[in-house]
Amino acid sequence: MRIQELYIKNFRNLEENKYNFNNNINYIYGQNAQGKTNLLESIWMLTGARSFRHSKDGELINFNNDFASIKAKVVINNNLNNITVNFGNNKRKVFLNEVPMRSPSEIIGFFKVVLFSPLNLNLIKDGPDNRRRLIDSALCQLYITYTKILVKYTKLLKHRNMLLKNYKNYDYKFLETLDEELCRTGSSIIMYRLDYLERLKIKSQKIYSEISNNQEKLDINYNFYKMNINKISEVRSMLLDGMRKNFDLDIRLGYTSIGPHKDDIEIFINNKPAKNYGSQGQQRSIILSLKLAESEITELEYGVSPVILLDDVMSELDSYRQEYLLTKILNKQVFITGCDELLLEKYNNNSNINKLHINCGKLI
Ligand SMILES: Nc1ncnc2c1ncn2[C@@H]1O[C@H](COP(=O)(O)OP(=O)(O)OP(=O)(O)O)[C@@H](O)[C@H]1O
Ligand SMILES: [Mg+2]
Repeated sequence: MRIQELYIKNFRNLEENKYNFNNNINYIYGQNAQGKTNLLESIWMLTGARSFRHSKDGELINFNNDFASIKAKVVINNNLNNITVNFGNNKRKVFLNEVPMRSPSEIIGFFKVVLFSPLNLNLIKDGPDNRRRLIDSALCQLYITYTKILVKYTKLLKHRNMLLKNYKNYDYKFLETLDEELCRTGSSIIMYRLDYLERLKIKSQKIYSEISNNQEKLDINYNFYKMNINKISEVRSMLLDGMRKNFDLDIRLGYTSIGPHKDDIEIFINNKPAKNYGSQGQQRSIILSLKLAESEITELEYGVSPVILLDDVMSELDSYRQEYLLTKILNKQVFITGCDELLLEKYNNNSNINKLHINCGKLI
């Protein structure tokens, strides 16, 4: 998977231009606030997902304009495709090979991108929602069905929570049917996550051990309210059981207290929770291992490597870890950002690195 040509107009501070990139490493360097992350964000927008900075669509348009556009020629399995994303009136409109999509999410999974963003670093220490989002975002790109199930679950959950808030008027029969549907959908989400996490764990453990020069061990655990299950029917009945038990509590709280929207992903280094003990470099290495593992899983599943975006990844990594990272991403299209022009010069295999300087939104 690669971008052959990228045309940008009025996106954040980026100057209107057509860009061509290398099929290997593209190193985008420049001072702070010049547009490095903006460029990666424009590439991410081609996946159909929302901005990774959680910006509203309208915020992505250049301050002095009311319309923005990103057009890309992308190569997927040797076929050339056009993806266009237009922004205006606080909305996004996506076109795939000039055909308008009903919703931007319709193309999620088409053009696959794995992103490392410094925003991910809070993920280890923050609450569980960001950790769930990490897994969900990867699964949505991998499986269209997962995106559909997740959308359905979110709608059903919203409906149930609304009924819980107005419980005096609820129709018990209706709530019972809703709970069954919620647990059916919820159990599919849990099974997808368990299966994915198992694969992610094996791959990221290997990468983490290599990146730490065999000094440290990574562990990941899915934390569901009662674990030790492996059949979807068991998950469903446990969920339904739990929901019935927690019914009075849910009414008091005004929301649903158990289900995949409450689960957590626990991360350990040398058997100690990374949340409480991880150093900055360790946290960076954990996220990096998870992202590289995500890219390997996509490659195994689809036979092509996703485009890899590494925003400001090098800082806080020692030179051993930096070099390891560069060897892991050989022969893939990668975009790396940094401030120092000479950052990658010291490494052996830097001959295939395309260096691009960005200044005031202008890429040279
Ligand atoms: N909608 C917009 N219109 C114009 N400029 C914008 C818009 N949104 C953000 N910017 C500008 O883009 C610049 C930030 O760009 P970006 O986040 O890409 O910087 P960066 O090069 O990644 O910097 P750093 O090294 O600090 O991460 C800021 O100056 C910001 O004001
Ligand atoms: Mg940045």
